[in-house]
Amino acid sequence: MATHPLVAAFQQAGQGHVFAHVEALNSAQQAELLADAGEVDLAEIAELNRTLVQKSAAAGVDLSDLSPAPYEALPKNGGNAAAWAEAKRLGEEALRAGRVAAFVVAGGQGTRLGYDGPKGTYPVTPVLKKSLFQVFAEKIRGAGARYGKPLHWFIMTSHINHAATEAFFKENKFFGLAESHVHFFRQGRMPAVGFDGKILLEEKHRIAMSPDGHGGSLRALQRSGAVDLMQREGIDILSYFQVDNPLVRFIDPAFVGWHLKTRSEMSSKMVPKAYAGEKVGHFCTQRGQTVVIEYSDLPKAMQEETDASGKLRFVAGSIAIHLLDREFIRRMATGADALPFHRADKKIPCLDAAGNAVKPEKANGVKFEMFVFDALPFAKHPVIIETDRADDFSPVKNAEGVDSPKTCAEDQLRQFVRWANGNGAAVAADATGLPPFAFEVSPLFGYDEDSFAVSWAARSPKPAITAGAVLT
Ligand code: UTP
Repeated sequence: MATHPLVAAFQQAGQGHVFAHVEALNSAQQAELLADAGEVDLAEIAELNRTLVQKSAAAGVDLSDLSPAPYEALPKNGGNAAAWAEAKRLGEEALRAGRVAAFVVAGGQGTRLGYDGPKGTYPVTPVLKKSLFQVFAEKIRGAGARYGKPLHWFIMTSHINHAATEAFFKENKFFGLAESHVHFFRQGRMPAVGFDGKILLEEKHRIAMSPDGHGGSLRALQRSGAVDLMQREGIDILSYFQVDNPLVRFIDPAFVGWHLKTRSEMSSKMVPKAYAGEKVGHFCTQRGQTVVIEYSDLPKAMQEETDASGKLRFVAGSIAIHLLDREFIRRMATGADALPFHRADKKIPCLDAAGNAVKPEKANGVKFEMFVFDALPFAKHPVIIETDRADDFSPVKNAEGVDSPKTCAEDQLRQFVRWANGNGAAVAADATGLPPFAFEVSPLFGYDEDSFAVSWAARSPKPAITAGAVLT
């Protein structure tokens, strides 16, 4: 083992301590350690140590020359109705041609929710408590039926939740989707380092590794063969969304149409920020490029700035919904352009130099993560369109309070009421649009306003909407 080339490479990189306990390991454990070590790009870690770890955590975000990014406003907010109608027509054509696939990033650890299991298995709907994955699967089935083309679905997992995610789909018979159209792949991992830049060990035979962030999806899509599969299937648009947001309209013809007609390589949806300090990323323009500046990086004064009409100047909030051009993904994964890593200081359980387990009380090291929105500056013609928050965004992030299972179930209910009452039902609701009882619309009945209207019109008599009703 001492003569293994990986050991020598780690020693040369000043990371030889990773193999300090190797004599205490059995051969299976040694093999595990070597496998972990083989995943580490030592040159990359050296560079990150130099650029991120040895510098202060706050350094690095360039705020010069920032202005608010332009976006296509919804027609009701002053946007061009004819242009939106044309976009929708183009998007429907692309969906009928099978050019669009769905892509959920589900490799996160969901620490804030504190749920044991892949987040996509979390029950979210108001009555049947369908899981997030089931909601997405049924939306995909609904859209496949509507456009006459079953959609492919790519699901990015992590090493930690991959097996459990696949097992969940198998147990549930893929929620009625064709197994051949559901593609799982793992995202990459990055080792954590101490503040001295030394790679941390989780156990004597295991490096402390964690998922490389949602931005890792671009390399993982390429590495897993997903990009080639898309090409073989004639898919050139990937609809990117997060696993924790059941409201998301990831099959949105108008969005697809805007993406196509502007020849955008990476498109985004924005919502106007609800209030100045809302914790969302801000779409900005910087020297001709589109960038997202996180709320934690944008000074308060800028967050609060208003224009002459009193409207927030940096108003465009990012809700992590994108369309990605297939060849753009390939270029980002294989070309000279690469996403930067961000530093996150965390409490990382690890071993001390003597090999004793340490459970830190405060941050003791650094994890490295990439963010998908950092691809925007590299994209040609990136377009941002406005969307209604109520129809696209209500994530489950926290166990309680804002963005929790409770707020998400309520937002689903409000959406169901809007759809039903928009088609002539008379469901009672309070001033916020919330009905006094729970009911549920299956995505197979309607997964958006249009598909709901079609099903509703076809029903005679109309479905009764009462406590516990399920429209299916
Ligand atoms: P979040 O930033 O909400 O992180 O991820 P999280 O890990 O799910 O939750 P916390 O912060 O630990 O509570 C946003 C989306 O990006 C995915 C998540 O699964 C979620 O869909 N993600 C995040 C990945 O796929 N991989 C990652 O490495 C990180």
